[in-house]
Amino acid sequence: MSEPSILVQKNVSLQAFNTFGIAARARELLVIRDVESAQAAVRSGLLRDRSLFILGGGSNIVLTADVSALVLKVEIPGMALVGETDRHWIVAAGAGVDWHEFVCWTVAQGWPGLENMALIPGVCGAAPVQNIGAYGVELQDRFEALDAIDLQTGEPFTLRADQCGFGYRDSVFKHAPAAPLAMGLKGRALITQVRFALPKRWVPELGYLDLQKQVAATGIDKPTPQQVLDWVVGIRQAKLPDPKVIGNAGSFFKNPTVSVEQCADIIGREPNLVHYPLPDGRIKLAAGWLIDACGWRGKSIGLAGVYEKQALVLVNRGNAQQAVTGGEVMTLAKAIQTSVFERFGLMLEPEPEVV
Ligand code: EPU
Repeated sequence: MSEPSILVQKNVSLQAFNTFGIAARARELLVIRDVESAQAAVRSGLLRDRSLFILGGGSNIVLTADVSALVLKVEIPGMALVGETDRHWIVAAGAGVDWHEFVCWTVAQGWPGLENMALIPGVCGAAPVQNIGAYGVELQDRFEALDAIDLQTGEPFTLRADQCGFGYRDSVFKHAPAAPLAMGLKGRALITQVRFALPKRWVPELGYLDLQKQVAATGIDKPTPQQVLDWVVGIRQAKLPDPKVIGNAGSFFKNPTVSVEQCADIIGREPNLVHYPLPDGRIKLAAGWLIDACGWRGKSIGLAGVYEKQALVLVNRGNAQQAVTGGEVMTLAKAIQTSVFERFGLMLEPEPEVV
């Protein structure tokens, strides 16, 4: 069999490939459309001894400069039911499939379970990287396994959930391989397919306040999966900017966790602090509330702004001709971190990858 051809594009604009709409360029970019062409690229030696940057939907990155690493843009398609057990449907998505399209398709096919994560921007291959989550459900709750290829050897491998190191917006794919224990897989693995175990005995997950409000408003306490999906879409559209209209990368900071004592100390000074107890005994704080309390909602630095309806989201106030720069976004992010630190003694951690 002949090797698939490898076409490296030079000096490619990444503006349409990152949801912030930042106008950076890639020195070299290779589109990966299937497993075989990824393996052929490894075998050709093209990837050897150089830094690689894996680009999915570009919905969780801030580009602060042109990218000198070789960009591997993943566009592997495909959605299919690949198996079933007594309790689950096993459904697979190619790494390049749009996440929301996949969620809608699974629900339409009668395989529910992903509806609380509707409308999260990005592609299926990126979903495990930061263990996406919303409205009480995280990817790891529905994850079966993923296939990837080793970018040094070209060998395919499969990881189960317990091998992915999932945490809050975290996984092994976010961490560089650390010698001598090579735990991290960042830049080392290219995810090609993700499989989900979707429950045959589905019950809606309605614990979040925003969803309880929908139950109360509609009087429907036993919604169908499609109804939950529609509710989540409505909630997100009401308070999060559509990246096709206003550039953004979703939540810009992680929600911090504190000890019970630290939380009590802050509440002593800030009685309205929004806080949620976690199963492990720690307390989660709402970064959006902390930023809002510091007066940042609706403010801007240059073309980088804080979204009016949700202070956790930083937005591009420019346009395609004059877009925000990654530098402006990071200047705003640092100013926010400083305010929050000075008032609450907490250092917010950015959620997107700063490139
Ligand atoms: N709040 C404010 N002012 C603001 C923003 C929020 O007071 O400007 C308050 C809200 O009223 C609420 C609390 O902060 O009491 C939390 O806000 P919200 O329910 O909107 O959720 P979040 O913690 O800001 C997280 C995820 C979102 C996810 C939602 C729903 C993170 C970093 N973000 O946001 O995920 O959609 O919960 O589950 O965990 C993303 O990761 O990109 C993302 C959008």
